[in-house]
Amino acid sequence: MSLSKLVIHQFRNINSTTLTFKNKINLIVGPNGSGKTSLLEAIYFLGLGRSFRSHLTSRIVQHDHKEFTLFSEINQQGLVTPIGLQKSKNGDSTLKINGAISKKLANLTHYLPLQLITPESSTLLSGSPKNRRAFLDWGVFYHDPLFYHNWARIKRLLKQRNAALKQCKTYNELQIWDNELCLLSDKISDQRQSYFELLLPLIKSTLNDFLPDFDISCQFFCGWDKTNKPLADYLQDNFPRDNQLGYTTAGPQKADIRFKIEGFPVADVLSRGQLKLFVYALQLAQGLFLNSIDKKQCIFLIDDFSSELDQTKQQILAKHIAASDAQLFISVIDPDNIDKLFSQQHSVFHVEHGQITEQLETNR
Ligand SMILES: Nc1ncnc2c1ncn2[C@@H]1O[C@H](COP(=O)(O)OP(=O)(O)OP(=O)(O)O)[C@@H](O)[C@H]1O
Ligand SMILES: [Mg+2]
Repeated sequence: MSLSKLVIHQFRNINSTTLTFKNKINLIVGPNGSGKTSLLEAIYFLGLGRSFRSHLTSRIVQHDHKEFTLFSEINQQGLVTPIGLQKSKNGDSTLKINGAISKKLANLTHYLPLQLITPESSTLLSGSPKNRRAFLDWGVFYHDPLFYHNWARIKRLLKQRNAALKQCKTYNELQIWDNELCLLSDKISDQRQSYFELLLPLIKSTLNDFLPDFDISCQFFCGWDKTNKPLADYLQDNFPRDNQLGYTTAGPQKADIRFKIEGFPVADVLSRGQLKLFVYALQLAQGLFLNSIDKKQCIFLIDDFSSELDQTKQQILAKHIAASDAQLFISVIDPDNIDKLFSQQHSVFHVEHGQITEQLETNR
């Protein structure tokens, strides 16, 4: 899968642009405030139907305009899928996939598997388990076609259970939710666990290249201690506490991946640059997995590639991401250094005041 064409209208400071991508590696260069992240954000929007910077469309639509429009062509083994998306400040959106109106923005996720890496990505390790669950579920979603259905159903069930929790006086009143909840929780946990076990060797080998000085342990936690008792018992025994809190404290909604060095969470041990490398390793492993096992290609959006990384680390990273065979969109401020790091055939797009121009190789 690759993005072969992108058209942007009235998106942030990008007024109107049409870009074609011939090479796997696409470098986006330009000074602060020129529109590099906005370009990545537009691609992300086409992949997920939302932004990674704001959930308010009014912030994203260009000032003094009513709506933004994005159009792309996705190439999958020679088969081109056109996708068009228009979103207005008043909340209306129109999505067209292959010429047909599509009601759900979530349908976009089937076309462009994206991995985004930004300077804030280290929150994957330093932030709450929610971030790590999202990381894991991204991979399970693309790997296991049955996962999404279970995941969506359990989300709804938990919402209903939590609403009921606040009102009921005894556990018996809750039991109607719990039979299905336990069944689905076991399924989801198994799906996550088996995906994690398949991914783990790739995570370990990438981490070994990026952070060879550390002995890192990686463990999947399903959301309750299975070795102690089944989830049904947790749900019943936790009732007094859950009832007071108003939410369910055990279950797959509490799953996590625990990364530790000598027993301590990695976020407490590693520097910011090292944490960034760690996140790169995790996301590259997912991309490689998708490519080698599932024969799907993911697209990497890397914002501010060189921030917090020294020259040697940038070289190791550039070597790995170039070898990943994925399509890459990499933003940087300083073009000189990055051009040398990516010696393979690549395209360079120069961004200035929201205008994007491709630089021909002869002019570099
Ligand atoms: N809705 C909008 N309409 C018009 N311009 C906007 C809108 N939202 C943000 N901008 C402007 O778009 C410009 C580009 O922002 P962007 O974050 O893409 O820059 P950048 O090239 O990534 O900069 P940096 O190198 O500092 O990260 C900024 O000057 C910002 O003020
Ligand atoms: Mg930026």
